[in-house]
Amino acid sequence: MSGDGSTSWADQIVELLQAMRNERYGERVDMLDHSLQTAARASADGASDHLVLAALLHDVGHVLGNAGEWGLADHARVGAAHLGNGLPAEVVEPIRLHVDAKRYLVATDDTYADQLSEASIRSLDEQGGPFSADQAARFEAESFASDAVRLRRWDDAGKVVDQDVPSLDEIRELLERVHRDHVGSG
Ligand SMILES: [Fe+2]
Repeated sequence: MSGDGSTSWADQIVELLQAMRNERYGERVDMLDHSLQTAARASADGASDHLVLAALLHDVGHVLGNAGEWGLADHARVGAAHLGNGLPAEVVEPIRLHVDAKRYLVATDDTYADQLSEASIRSLDEQGGPFSADQAARFEAESFASDAVRLRRWDDAGKVVDQDVPSLDEIRELLERVHRDHVGSG
């Protein structure tokens, strides 16, 4: 694929991220800041490029559907479906599973719910609540379950008011590179 193709694909994704500047879904930071903070935490934690990108893009599904007060309950699957034609499974699967990871952690980690924001607790009901033991076992069997749990913890931590974040331009280069590698290998 030509460089132009990669650029226009990345433009379209960057536009989604920019649209998140106007959304909060009950959080104390806007969704673009939240996305950049989540990516910065992934990066500081030594995550792969794929997981840093997953952290950046994990919530784009909210602006692809009809989001309510606490966002779009199904945003993980909606976002993953939208990104799946341009990015590899290492990016898309942790995004698809990051709401399931919350439902899993609430069910299996006694201290986890205390760390959730009010909005995350409110949306948990709309997302189906804590996993049953069977659902938790099915989640653990997913290939990208542990990456989704890591993403989830950066996600929960990436809601700090007035935190310095990397610019979108810094991260855009990563988006274009991973996309180019993915479509170029096909
Ligand atoms: Fe998030």
